[in-house]
Amino acid sequence: MFETLPTLVPDPILGLVAECKRDNNPNKIDLSVGVYKDESNHTPVMAAVREAQIRYLESETSKVYQPPGGTENFIGKVNELIFGESHPALKDNRIATVQATGGCASLHLAAKLIMRANPDAKVWLSDPSWPNHFPLLSSTGINIELYPYYDSESHSVSFDKMVSTLENAGAGDLVLIHASCHNPCGADLTKEQWRILTELAQKNGFVPFIDMAYQGFGLSLDDDAYGIRYMSEHLPEVVVCNSFSKNFGLYRERAGSLSVVVSDAQQTPTVMNQALNVARGIYSMPPAHGAALVETVLSNPDLRDMWHSEVNAMRERIVAMRSALADGIAALGCDRDFSFIKQQFGMFSFLGLTETQVDRLKTDYSVYIIKSSRISVAGINPGNLPYLCRAVSEVVKL
Ligand code: LMR
Repeated sequence: MFETLPTLVPDPILGLVAECKRDNNPNKIDLSVGVYKDESNHTPVMAAVREAQIRYLESETSKVYQPPGGTENFIGKVNELIFGESHPALKDNRIATVQATGGCASLHLAAKLIMRANPDAKVWLSDPSWPNHFPLLSSTGINIELYPYYDSESHSVSFDKMVSTLENAGAGDLVLIHASCHNPCGADLTKEQWRILTELAQKNGFVPFIDMAYQGFGLSLDDDAYGIRYMSEHLPEVVVCNSFSKNFGLYRERAGSLSVVVSDAQQTPTVMNQALNVARGIYSMPPAHGAALVETVLSNPDLRDMWHSEVNAMRERIVAMRSALADGIAALGCDRDFSFIKQQFGMFSFLGLTETQVDRLKTDYSVYIIKSSRISVAGINPGNLPYLCRAVSEVVKL
């Protein structure tokens, strides 16, 4: 039977990571996958997480199943982190949150739940969006449409075009919006733009479906959740998928959550029950360890403060590397302006290179970036920066 299966082309992101690993060039630079790396090109276990791990291991007495939706304390802490402690929807008990196996499972779970509620639902995705949004969502059978998002001339959000396209999104539609640190383009919505989109949703009846994978990497933990908090205050329904892979450095632990803001507190247990029923049919229940570390950090003020400082330091390093890259290329006399990189947020930006230039970066310089010319800024450090600047300024001459 299995001989009928064709081999697929490698995943555009994970395939490139593997290719870079095989490259023997000592100068190679991996700017492919979105993982945070420190100045020594290492993805560390965060200090707060390491300490939480020690405390958790000392207190753990059993490996018996945990509640399928996560512990009550985990859910409470996650809700506070995403929505803010005194959010009206939280006070009204209108948020159904369940633990999920990372941001990916959260997105898939959300789409399946949406399909149960409305088999004709349609999700509008930004063009461009994270490539894995397509398989995670469309494999549930949900319809997908695109809305324009990035203007490659101005290197910012093409908001007018976004809004005029989303005029066509109505009741029964969901609009997937990146909470902050847009993946892949790094161009984020302003607070004013979040408010305009909220008015559009009020007028036309679509439901925001917000993906937050980088809370704290854009402006701050609170600012990056602004859109979620604002929309959840002013709209009856909002779906929020959340990942702790990046801001807790828990990539391989698969820790995340799904929250559904509902219009009436009476619906909260039903939505929770349906979401858990969907999960039961896929992975039954999420792993405990990563979520326990998040819970331990968020429940202990000393660890929480430590984690806040670490997230701030990670963000500041990324911001510094954004400036260093743009300025470094300019200092080489390059006639292409890359200063827009300084205006963008989070781990990613498009360099605006052609596929040939992206290929030359790889073949001539062993610099690995996604075909779309997306770079993961977090892979830049003072050690590889001069080589990277030279490589980019050389390939843009082609
Ligand atoms: C990325 O976009 O590089 C990350 O979100 C990692 C992934 O799984 O694709």
